[in-house]
Amino acid sequence: MPYDVPKGGLLFAPNRPDVRLIPTDLIGRAYRRAIRRGARILGYGRPQGHERLRAAVASMLASTRGIAATADDVCITRGSQMALALLAQSLLRPGDIVAVEELTYRPAAEVFRMHGAKVVPIALDEHGIKIEAVEELAGKLRALHVTPHHQFPTTVTLSASRRLRLLELARKHKFAIIEEDYDHEFHYDGPPVLPLASADRFGVVAYAGTFSKVLAPALRTGYIVAPRPLLNSVIAHRLYIDVQGDRILEYALAELMEEGEIQRWIRRTRREYKMRRDLLANALRRRLGDALTFSIPAGGIGLWVKAVDGIDIDAWAERAHKRGVVMITAKGFALTGRPRPFARLGFAALNRQELAEAVRRLASSLD
Ligand SMILES: Cc1ncc(COP(=O)(O)O)c(C=O)c1O
Repeated sequence: MPYDVPKGGLLFAPNRPDVRLIPTDLIGRAYRRAIRRGARILGYGRPQGHERLRAAVASMLASTRGIAATADDVCITRGSQMALALLAQSLLRPGDIVAVEELTYRPAAEVFRMHGAKVVPIALDEHGIKIEAVEELAGKLRALHVTPHHQFPTTVTLSASRRLRLLELARKHKFAIIEEDYDHEFHYDGPPVLPLASADRFGVVAYAGTFSKVLAPALRTGYIVAPRPLLNSVIAHRLYIDVQGDRILEYALAELMEEGEIQRWIRRTRREYKMRRDLLANALRRRLGDALTFSIPAGGIGLWVKAVDGIDIDAWAERAHKRGVVMITAKGFALTGRPRPFARLGFAALNRQELAEAVRRLASSLD
């Protein structure tokens, strides 16, 4: 999602990785090896993606996320945005009701709207989406979109009891849960919480993941794991939109996964981002401890900060923009106009010096 950043400005990008760190040589070499396969790789393939990448993704999901998937349960997509679009095409008819978290990744809600759905925001609290609000709507819902691991943008993790109730509600009322796990790998404190999809005994969850945050958005590679009838429909739609993905890149990524290179890369990046999270938290406490409150999220790539009473965070963000630092406040994630004193300070895309400088600029534009 493009943001308006002044020349020389620093952006607390809500959801971007630091693409400057990407192992481009590694990916470049793997791509070259893949394309040299010539006729074995350059022709048409299957719309759901290269078998080897699907197998590598399935094995990664089984070993790290408790999702019992095989290659046949996976459809490769061009990022999670395409995953959402394919799921919307497969699931929705005009007039269907789709519930989304009241603060969310707005392009997700937009996809559902573009497919004719009525999008209804559901309230959030410190345990994630409020189940009573889902329950009230459940009988009318066609789908529910959630980001349970590190809620986007508030970073909260959906509690275990709510997870079970959501699955039960979806079974009872026959709506689909679209679970987006866009930054699963970046969990720093304790083991990651397993996705809803790992506990889906009823076949109600469509799970979407992406390589955009662990590697780079420009690779446009993501995936869906979904119950078979839904997945078949997704694959059919993918065929007619795109025929297939980038088989060469898919092969290259599969090889890097099989060799453990991507996993090694993830471990390194996770250490770096954890340091950035802590550095940002410390700098904010030091310079803006009287202006902002926040808790440190166990994972994810942003802090969700609250301005204390008396500070208009949107006016502050405007002043900060003029001083060369961009923070995206809650209204950038809201579907309703109610002002909220929050912002998401993404820390992954700024290095340590930049984070320190960005906080300095924020502090200098406080009043
Ligand atoms: C919550 C969320 N969903 C989806 C996307 C889209 O990601 P992709 O590049 O995988 O399409 C983003 C990207 O910023 C995101 O933050």
